[in-house]
Amino acid sequence: MDVKTSAATSRYPEVYARWQRDPQGFWGEAARDVAWIKPPKTVFDPNAGVYGRWFPDGVCNTCYNAVDRHVEAGRGEQAAIIYDSPVTNSKQTITYAALQTKTETLAGILRHTFGVKKGDRVILYMPMVPEALVAMLACARIGAVHSVVFGGFAPKELATRIDDAKPKVIVSASCGLEGARVIAYKPLLDEAINLSKHKPEACLILQRPQLACELTPGRDHDWQKAWDDALVWARNVLEPEPMLATDPLYILYTSGTTGIPKGVVRDNGGHLVALKWSMKNIYDIDPGETWWAGSDIGWVVGHSYIVYAPLFHGCTTVLYEGKPVGTPDAGAFWRVIAEHKVAAFFTAPTAFRAIKKEDPQGKLFTKYDLSKFRTLFLAGERADPDTIVWARDLLNKPVIDHWWQTETGWTIAGNPVGLGQLPVKLGSPTVPMPGYDLRVVDDACQEVKRGQMGSLVVKLPLPPSCLPTLWQQDERMKESYLAEFPGYYKTADAGFIDQDGYVFVMGRTDDIINVAGHRLSTGGMEEVLSAHRDVAECAVLGIKDDLKGEVPCGFIVLKAGVNRPPEEIERECVQLVRDKIGPVAAFKLAIVVNRLPKTRSGKILRGTIKKMADHEPWNMPATIDDPAVLEEIGAAMKSKGVGV
Ligand code: COA
Ligand code: AMP
Repeated sequence: MDVKTSAATSRYPEVYARWQRDPQGFWGEAARDVAWIKPPKTVFDPNAGVYGRWFPDGVCNTCYNAVDRHVEAGRGEQAAIIYDSPVTNSKQTITYAALQTKTETLAGILRHTFGVKKGDRVILYMPMVPEALVAMLACARIGAVHSVVFGGFAPKELATRIDDAKPKVIVSASCGLEGARVIAYKPLLDEAINLSKHKPEACLILQRPQLACELTPGRDHDWQKAWDDALVWARNVLEPEPMLATDPLYILYTSGTTGIPKGVVRDNGGHLVALKWSMKNIYDIDPGETWWAGSDIGWVVGHSYIVYAPLFHGCTTVLYEGKPVGTPDAGAFWRVIAEHKVAAFFTAPTAFRAIKKEDPQGKLFTKYDLSKFRTLFLAGERADPDTIVWARDLLNKPVIDHWWQTETGWTIAGNPVGLGQLPVKLGSPTVPMPGYDLRVVDDACQEVKRGQMGSLVVKLPLPPSCLPTLWQQDERMKESYLAEFPGYYKTADAGFIDQDGYVFVMGRTDDIINVAGHRLSTGGMEEVLSAHRDVAECAVLGIKDDLKGEVPCGFIVLKAGVNRPPEEIERECVQLVRDKIGPVAAFKLAIVVNRLPKTRSGKILRGTIKKMADHEPWNMPATIDDPAVLEEIGAAMKSKGVGV
């Protein structure tokens, strides 16, 4: 990959070329930064797994690398986690030594009280509290596979994940806090377990003072009581379980093209190697510095950069339970950065749009001293140039967009500040990282010319940390990602690479939309709407939104003979998506229409509807069955204040 405009000082071209020449040598060297129980002799086995496996004979433990290793190296008294929770008006600092004690204790509880063994699954349905991180690390310590489910999902979504992962234990809490609102988690958990076929043997529940819950006898256990009991049986210290590098560390479910989410598997060894490498080379962070990823542990950014990477690197990680605005104001981010001396911050552009909307002049910013702050990193959705420029002007610091996916777990294309920052091109996440041989291809899998749009694909193998497979679904892995473009991984993003080697990611090629940095499937929402008794057919698409980037909008055709008021059915449809998928879907707009625009072969013209809704120029498709339908759709949108 040539980067002609690269700053003369950046080592990126040389480092990327070094990886291209000798990928195994490159990752073998990076692997030396990890504390192995048994270092790998083989860096990559192309014949193992679906497309090959990294470090197949290496033995390690993820929790040891995140915690114990730093205590042994003398960092015991350094803060590992700073919990800052404006919603509960509390703060807590947990040192590496304290984190070690906590993870050992919970690991002991999971093993001895609940009989959780290596390879067993544990689902975590938790708010943003330190106990959630302790639970992830405790699972890693004993070799249990954790699966964190985002709190904004409805019981049915949780039930689907329970049935797929078949957890032995679920760890949850009595409530979560969304701004000033208290969300009772326990009824959601109970309903999910009612809905699921698989039943966990036990649930461990953290009672939060904001809202206690009733425990279900015989199934639920109180966190504090289990903890106190564990101290009585004298904390039987569990040594970190030796894990093969290829053993699964976690499953993280993400939206697929149907209502059944994909269980992205992350292994232990490759994940350790790539994430450790990323902290210095991509983010330019040193051990001992404070780092903050303003995401949620339910998302991949939370897994990789609230929990694992900063701890692998011996940093202090900030765990923030609050919002960019309203907790209490649009200066919350500046307060946290100043107060905890954060060196670099990573969040989604939508958070900055929320701040910009409330405080466009950045008046609250001037109240805080951000002298220790160096860089802002954005990801999760395309960083729109307006937001980048606004943030850059306000902060007077580099604002770096980077592109990645749940599947990869770390950056596909970015601007590696640690190797020397490359010039920023607005609208581009910059260049492919070592490990990613990124190409742009047409539908026939032929590479297109520089500057031409196509499908963004990665030549196999994927680098360490990327998904080796989907949980117990090798075939679905092949079908979803590897079949369409043989020899390549399909990112399902479309874009181009310009003459200077800069990547531009322009949008998804499937039904995935990005709402406030949250990944959602419009196909999943269509499945829910289709189940409404009065709905004959429907189409859900993501339409532009100034704050959230995109929001879903559903067009609904009613069954013949239904003569209830359309507004009533629209309201029911909105509620149905909220009940079945969850508030995170942000599905607030359903529009009843007489017909959907289709091609003569019956395909819904989603692209045209989207352009109309987004106020973009559109042409009458030559293949349209009946052009009058678009006029009807336009009128229906107009009546709801949408587009055209
Ligand atoms: N538990 C329960 N409910 C949750 C939740 C959780 N963990 N997270 C979100 N929700 C709810 C919200 O309360 C909201 O409910 P409502 O419809 O009753 O108001 C709904 O899900 C939609 O949430 P969201 O889209 O996040 O909207 P918001 O108005 O609450 O916040 C932003 C908007 C932009 C401030 C917020 O999305 C944000 O800070 N995003 C950036 C950071 C981020 O999370 N990035 C993720 C990937 S890096
Ligand atoms: P998730 O799996 O939730 O991380 O979402 C991944 C998807 O978000 C990608 O496939 C892209 O469509 C989008 N995305 C994430 N980061 C970026 C970015 N920096 N630029 C453009 N799109 C992005």
